[in-house]
Amino acid sequence: SRGEYRHYMQKEIFEQPMALGRTLQGRLPLDDAPLALGEKTMSLLANARAIRILACGTSYHAGLTAAYWFESLCRLPCRVEVASEFRYRDSYPMPNELVIAISQSGETADTLAAVHDARERGFDGVLAICNVDESSLARAADAVLLTRAGPEIGVASTKAFTTQLAALALTVLALAEREGVRSDMRQALLRLPTQVEEILAMDSAIEELAAAFADKHHALFLGRGVHYPIALEGALKLKEISYIHAEGYPAGELKHGPLALVNEEMPVVAVAPNDSLLEKLRSNLEEVRARGGQLFVFGEDGAVDHGGGMRFHSMPACHPFISPILYVLPLQMLSYHVAVLKGTDVDRPRNLAKSVTVE
Ligand code: F6R
Repeated sequence: SRGEYRHYMQKEIFEQPMALGRTLQGRLPLDDAPLALGEKTMSLLANARAIRILACGTSYHAGLTAAYWFESLCRLPCRVEVASEFRYRDSYPMPNELVIAISQSGETADTLAAVHDARERGFDGVLAICNVDESSLARAADAVLLTRAGPEIGVASTKAFTTQLAALALTVLALAEREGVRSDMRQALLRLPTQVEEILAMDSAIEELAAAFADKHHALFLGRGVHYPIALEGALKLKEISYIHAEGYPAGELKHGPLALVNEEMPVVAVAPNDSLLEKLRSNLEEVRARGGQLFVFGEDGAVDHGGGMRFHSMPACHPFISPILYVLPLQMLSYHVAVLKGTDVDRPRNLAKSVTVE
């Protein structure tokens, strides 16, 4: 039941600390012991020399995020494809290329068909990252890493997304450690549920931003690097439940087209974590400000020089490894509040189904 919450989506946003705790539970030893992801999962990962991620929608965004991790932290080539596209084009595996299929429901027709095709094309095995134990995808895969988010009722995916990222982060750690990388990433992941809690406590401050979106027809979401997929996810959330047209862009692409759209009627949301791309992002934001765009920036104190034309929302300092998982939270909360203000059917947005079991 929804309990004290007005909508399932809101309940599911607030369940994230608990859900993430469960995803990590028992899998991430405090000492130097190997990760406990199950024997089958560990052996699939041990053999992988390349990774192909197949998924749809929000699960695809989790895959896009993980690709940055696999390439930068594990030095493994990784490609991510929308399952409905993969099915209908010719694509061949590299030697020992592992498929990771990501799906909350495990019943998405396109993802299931893509997995089937991948086997026929000679990919090296299928690891499913899935929220439902007995699902078709779980049965079709060689190994399953469950996200343990608990049932997700709201059509707009929230806790399924962050737990997918946490499960993917575990596979990234397992692979990075195989390459001999030892770091503080384990500790960073263990702190995740507490840090998520901290950010959820900002809900009422984020609610105050919603009014600036409710009467708009378009919005842009910007991010760079591993936060570009987070911008895509922010845009998808806003479209789905508030029916405001939104696009996610890597901030460096602005001047190649979308800048033409920027004016006072176009709110621009930017995720600006304290990473190596912050300086680049700053100049992208100046381009928006110079055109009169209304900027909404999420970053650590001092990240950007805020003044006229910018509303800055301060985020706690965090480890770069888990930063994408934290920065999606304010975007989820923002979309939720915009949809509530607009009076849409938040849990059951028009034209959408929770699980898309037809092509
Ligand atoms: C967005 C959303 C959809 C799903 C997509 C895949 O909020 O929920 O984009 O992510 O339909 O669904 P699963 O993960 O069940 O395969």
